[in-house]
Amino acid sequence: MTCTLLTGGFGYIGSHTAAILAENKQKFIILDNFINCKRDVVARLETITNQNIRFYEVDVRETESLIKIINENKVSSVIHFAALKSVSDSLMRPLDYYEVNVKGTISLLQAMKCTGLKRFLFSSTAAVYGEPDFCPIDEKHKLNPLNPYAQTKIIIEKILEDISKADREWSIACLRYFNPIGAHNSGLIGDDPLSVENSNLMPEMIKVVTGSKNYLNVFGDDYETSDGTGVRDYIHIMDLSKAHVTALDYINKNNGINFFNIGTGEGVSVLELIKTFEKVSGLSIPIKISNRREGDCAVCFANPKKANDILKWKSNYDLYKMCNSAWEFVKSNKI
Ligand code: WQD
Repeated sequence: MTCTLLTGGFGYIGSHTAAILAENKQKFIILDNFINCKRDVVARLETITNQNIRFYEVDVRETESLIKIINENKVSSVIHFAALKSVSDSLMRPLDYYEVNVKGTISLLQAMKCTGLKRFLFSSTAAVYGEPDFCPIDEKHKLNPLNPYAQTKIIIEKILEDISKADREWSIACLRYFNPIGAHNSGLIGDDPLSVENSNLMPEMIKVVTGSKNYLNVFGDDYETSDGTGVRDYIHIMDLSKAHVTALDYINKNNGINFFNIGTGEGVSVLELIKTFEKVSGLSIPIKISNRREGDCAVCFANPKKANDILKWKSNYDLYKMCNSAWEFVKSNKI
């Protein structure tokens, strides 16, 4: 019986991936230090999966604990979600990002080396591409980090490439996420981080509709796009989570290292997302056009062909369904 270790498994993407693994009757355990997730996610996930979840409140930098957990549970593969992930926050405290993201991953890889574990699925990001030279972006696009968060992910990808070169028995996949939004159809889990400062567009819109903000700042309307606002590749969290399950299957059958862009392949502007969310919620979202945000690019969306062809994965949900699931989560949880 295989067992997959999900580090950061109670986070936004980890918890949704766990829900799908449970649905597929695939065994997993979770390791989380609860630095950026509410503790009630445990009970919520147990309700969704209808099982007691074996988890460890441990930091990935505790290598000895990781070795013990891997051996105790006969872990056969790892999905590594645990990381600090805010672009703006990483500009303010870069050393914390190198400490947690890079040192934490090295600690985990050391524990895997000690226990002979060589199947590794890594949570990377489209931010590694920075300001893209072309869109849709494929995996051959040059890497151009604009912030410490993206830089940590590139450093880790390089470490993984070197490990793969040194030992061909390793099976590694790096998933470069575009912009995940939405929530599980139960309404029990969704994008609900502890740190709410400088968050992403969808959580900021939700702050407006729930009254904790009077208006939404739109960071710039003078980009070379259809309506002047930034264009991104928003992807339903369930589609993104399913990509992890197909990638896990892939690394269980194939050695070597691979990088995959996980997006829909469609670019959507800030104003288009706002309009769709207003349609779904029936509420209007007052906006204030403000200056561009440091580090933002104009347009960023994926060419998902490699994941479509090799992982046999493709996104299913459209923008309306993404916004609707996010709105249902808000209503069910009175956020
Ligand atoms: C989207 C668009 C903003 C907030 C980042 C990371 C990426 C991934 C997702 C981790 C942009 C505009 C936003 C607001 C706005 N995270 N915006 N007002 O920056 O594309 O991607 O988060 O893996 O790696 O880089 O996401 O949601 O912050 O911004 O106008 O209050 O919305 O300018 O055009 P981003 P975002």
